[in-house]
Amino acid sequence: MTGERQAVAPRLTERSPSISGTELAGTLVPPRQFDSASFENYRPDRDYPSQGEALAKLRHFAEGWKPAKAGGFFGRGKKTPAAKPGIYLDGGFGVGKTHLLAALWHAAPGPKYFGTFIEYTALIGALGYANAVQLFAGAKFIAIDEFELDDPGDTMLMTRFLGELVAKGTRLAATSNTPPNALGEGRFAASDFLREIQAIADRFDIVRIDGLDYRRRDIEGHAAAFETTDALDAAIEAHLAAGERLTSDPFLDLVHHLGSIHPSRYIKLIDGVDTIALSDVTPLTDQTDALRLVAFIDRVYDAQIRILASGIPLDQVFAGDMLNGGYRKKYLRAASRMIASATR
Ligand SMILES: Nc1ncnc2c1ncn2[C@@H]1O[C@H](COP(=O)(O)OP(=O)(O)OP(=O)(O)O)[C@@H](O)[C@H]1O
Ligand SMILES: [Mg+2]
Repeated sequence: MTGERQAVAPRLTERSPSISGTELAGTLVPPRQFDSASFENYRPDRDYPSQGEALAKLRHFAEGWKPAKAGGFFGRGKKTPAAKPGIYLDGGFGVGKTHLLAALWHAAPGPKYFGTFIEYTALIGALGYANAVQLFAGAKFIAIDEFELDDPGDTMLMTRFLGELVAKGTRLAATSNTPPNALGEGRFAASDFLREIQAIADRFDIVRIDGLDYRRRDIEGHAAAFETTDALDAAIEAHLAAGERLTSDPFLDLVHHLGSIHPSRYIKLIDGVDTIALSDVTPLTDQTDALRLVAFIDRVYDAQIRILASGIPLDQVFAGDMLNGGYRKKYLRAASRMIASATR
């Protein structure tokens, strides 16, 4: 039974993608689910006034790109440019931060880029610092989604990088689940690191967005899971018969495989896949494994790939006291995304 399935569906664990700097730069656009994200189709929740306020602040930030109207005496028609070159959207998960960031990107003139923090650091790593600065020099706007500082070295690199670009006139926007001065809280204590974070924080106007997880306005409960491997196999066959490009792996094999690939390549790992089947999902006890899964799920969610799984519901894989540690928000966000991606 299992052998049969493996013969039909390829495995993600058989893929070891590589990705060049130029290829990476080409991926620096919003994920396709945000192709039509705009200020107009962002619906602020009236129960959370911070959403309407954030929308207004972003619209104001975008005004900074409109050409100054000619003819106004005494500055009539003159825009008041946003005070800082960066805007930082801080809030819980699923409140529309990426939607707003993409809307701002669509409103910005080019050259412009949109990527996650991890994509930028991977790109700088692949191209080399000086080449990366050269590539981005002249950019009007850089959007950085999921500004998460898990690594002091990456933080310093990114601070320096953004500082150089801002000096050349680039404007920035970023999102995170944590305000800049709390990033790294409970994880790193080095005073150097905190100083670096402050240097980043000074360049951004911080805009807080509260609210409910938008995805959960429709979705309740847990990630869909098949109770038995047989039920999963039957579903796999049905999806394959429908002509889908499906991969199938035992959950722990995939988790193990993720450890052998740089997270910036996860996007390539799942390239061209419609559905990912994972059998025997079990709780993860290792924080490193769990963080890799989070990075993987981010890419799966962005690419709108379906997940079929057996075992425990995927949103329950973060076991033990992981959910009480410094990465709590990351895990909760990944759980929210897995609930949205898992199907039957
Ligand atoms: N107020 C809103 N109006 C319209 N669509 C919204 C709104 N908030 C969220 N959405 C939609 O809900 C989905 C989730 O929102 P989004 O990914 O922007 O949230 P997020 O705050 O970036 O979440 P995460 O913390 O997971 O990154 C998207 O498809 C987005 O377009
Ligand atoms: Mg987001």
